[in-house]
Amino acid sequence: MRVLVTGGAGFIGSHVVDRLLQRGDSVTAFDDLSTGSLHNIRHLHDDPNFRFSNATVLDAQALDAEVAQVDVIYHLAAAVGVQLIVDRPLQSLITNIKGTENVLESAQKHRVKVLIASTSEIYGKSQNGPFKEEDDRVLGSPRKLRWSYSTSKAVDEILAYVYYKELGLPTVVVRLFNTIGPRQIGHYGMVVPRFIEQALRGEPVTVYGDGSQSRSFTSVHDVVKAITKLMETPQAEGDVFNVAGRSEITIRKLAELVIERAASASTIINVPFEVVYGEGFEDMDRRAADPSKLEAIAGFRCDTSLVETIDKMIEFARDSPRRQ
Ligand SMILES: NC(=O)c1ccc[n+]([C@@H]2O[C@H](COP(=O)([O-])OP(=O)(O)OC[C@H]3O[C@@H](n4cnc5c(N)ncnc54)[C@H](O)[C@@H]3O)[C@@H](O)[C@H]2O)c1
Repeated sequence: MRVLVTGGAGFIGSHVVDRLLQRGDSVTAFDDLSTGSLHNIRHLHDDPNFRFSNATVLDAQALDAEVAQVDVIYHLAAAVGVQLIVDRPLQSLITNIKGTENVLESAQKHRVKVLIASTSEIYGKSQNGPFKEEDDRVLGSPRKLRWSYSTSKAVDEILAYVYYKELGLPTVVVRLFNTIGPRQIGHYGMVVPRFIEQALRGEPVTVYGDGSQSRSFTSVHDVVKAITKLMETPQAEGDVFNVAGRSEITIRKLAELVIERAASASTIINVPFEVVYGEGFEDMDRRAADPSKLEAIAGFRCDTSLVETIDKMIEFARDSPRRQ
């Protein structure tokens, strides 16, 4: 297969690229390096089956030239993370909506199957859960910028669905929950790499809010296996899948676990959300996935333990101090 991975120099994208190359595909990573890094793909420099294209998905012509040459697209390029979206809302919205529209338009023109990366932010501040794919979304006011990420990804999901339904384009949507692993960076509000950086420096680990909020974290290696399996499963076309494990942990317990695994002397301090994200920021107490549909259709379970993943991330952070 010839595959285009948008966001291929990013955290998840670079792991997707690795897996596709390992199984013998030819891969082009397409990335504007806004949050990604050449560091993530430098080990592929001499691989004859790998190419890097430094461009933006907002450049419809450059994108189309790449789409014309492939059989499959993994569309992972996006403005990611609550912090980035709150800091740069306009550019984030344009990237996530117009960028995906460009990908789908070219995919339709060249009849190329597409995976679209969506997010658990889709479920908004609903306190119900574990969430099933058909559950209602509960969002705050559009004037609370936090919800613009959720809204932009919902537009992407709807576009993918109608391209499938009205135009017969094979699309698969995956809702990723907190995905973690080596190469993830903490600069844009990602909690686990941030805790690891703080613990390794011996600085206080900063827990936002009181830390009783719980989340489910999934290893990037599981995520990559799950999404590549879904792309090989015809039954998955036109559908949407939660991609996550079943375990949950509170953020306070997560901080304790990181400190323990890093053998750090760091303490934990609590910081109010408003201090980090500004007045009126909304967050939810619990966000857990029901991954039954993924498990039934792809026959795959995300069950790598959190301890194993955190240990790998700590090892990675120790080996590449300049990136942290
Ligand atoms: N990491 C998570 O926990 C998580 C959770 C839910 C959804 N997702 C989704 O997974 C995908 C990958 O996220 P990630 O965690 O690897 O983040 P990331 O920031 O590492 O990856 C995004 C990549 O897209 C690139 N990019 C951004 N704008 C671009 C543009 N206009 N043109 C080309 N490339 C562009 C960035 O440079 C980066 O390499 C995103 O679509 C994100 O919304 C991630």
